[in-house]
Amino acid sequence: MSDFVRIHEVGPRDGLQNEKSVIPVADKVALIDLLSRSGLRDIEVGSFVSRKWVPQMADTDRVLADLTPVADVRYAVLVPNMRGWDGFAAARMPGVTYEVAVFMSASEGFSQSNLNCSIAQSVDRLIPVVRAAEATGVGVRGYISCVTDCPFDGPVAPDSVARAAKMLLAVAPMQLSLGDTIGKGTPDKVARMLDAVLQVAPAEGLAGHFHDTGGQALANIETSLEMGLRAFDSAVGGLGGCPYAPGAPGNVATEAVLDLVHALGFETGINVDVIAKAAEMARGMR
Ligand code: HMG
Ligand code: MG
Repeated sequence: MSDFVRIHEVGPRDGLQNEKSVIPVADKVALIDLLSRSGLRDIEVGSFVSRKWVPQMADTDRVLADLTPVADVRYAVLVPNMRGWDGFAAARMPGVTYEVAVFMSASEGFSQSNLNCSIAQSVDRLIPVVRAAEATGVGVRGYISCVTDCPFDGPVAPDSVARAAKMLLAVAPMQLSLGDTIGKGTPDKVARMLDAVLQVAPAEGLAGHFHDTGGQALANIETSLEMGLRAFDSAVGGLGGCPYAPGAPGNVATEAVLDLVHALGFETGINVDVIAKAAEMARGMR
């Protein structure tokens, strides 16, 4: 089994989307540019969603225009529908490697709150986005939210997560990021959920996305590592939260994940000193 762990930095998107004060584009770009010199290979830099719903991400087009692309870094953006795809297509810069992340929920309550539609409708809306990405050589990633608990529906059955995974994989092969959106997951719950998802997707195709609300994110990552996962999402400085998931502050901090996986003997290719500087910068933006 691989001893390399791939970290997907979500701070500039998941970390900053919840901030109330307006963060200047130049500050976002400075953070992204510093992160892109750390050895990270995946950085999520924004989203093309409704500006009324998530005002903090309304300037993602300017972020794409102003960042200094680094070879080997893939810049990811969230895209829920074709309106979002059109925004991305107009903003993308030549010669840069991008990935679009489509997203859905394993629970109906969060689907309605976050996307204003049912699970089935959300999949219908993301299919043309995936097709457009395929047609233009852009990578695709899929998020499944509320993989253990939903802020509206309560505990989420592992089978519901496996069903969501199957729905996304029926659209196209893609890495699936499994989101503990409100940080209520525990190693036991995560293991039961992964048991179900591993019936429909191989561990190499999965990533763990743990919010640290309950202080369990690192333990959940250890459990996921034991079950074969080698990709995790995190945010420098532990920034984060989803505006449509009450009680979802704090993605697990990138620096804490690096300490854990390095101590366990995994390689990441990431320079912890650069990440420490980026964490300080990110905390200063709040
Ligand atoms: P809606 O209101 O149902 O959509 O929202 P609509 O089609 O009726 O459109 C309403 C207005 O939004 C229209 O504008 C559209 O043009 C516009 P108006 O005519 O009123 O001026 N619109 C858009 N504008 C820009 N970009 C777009 C877009 N689509 C419509 N793509 C919609 C549907 C999906 C847009 C809305 O629900 C939305 O933006 N939701 C935001 C969801 C979001 O970004 N949530 C946070 C990220 S997800 C997350 O954090 C979880 C994750 O981290 C994993 C985890 O932790 O679990 C990934
Ligand atoms: Mg999240």
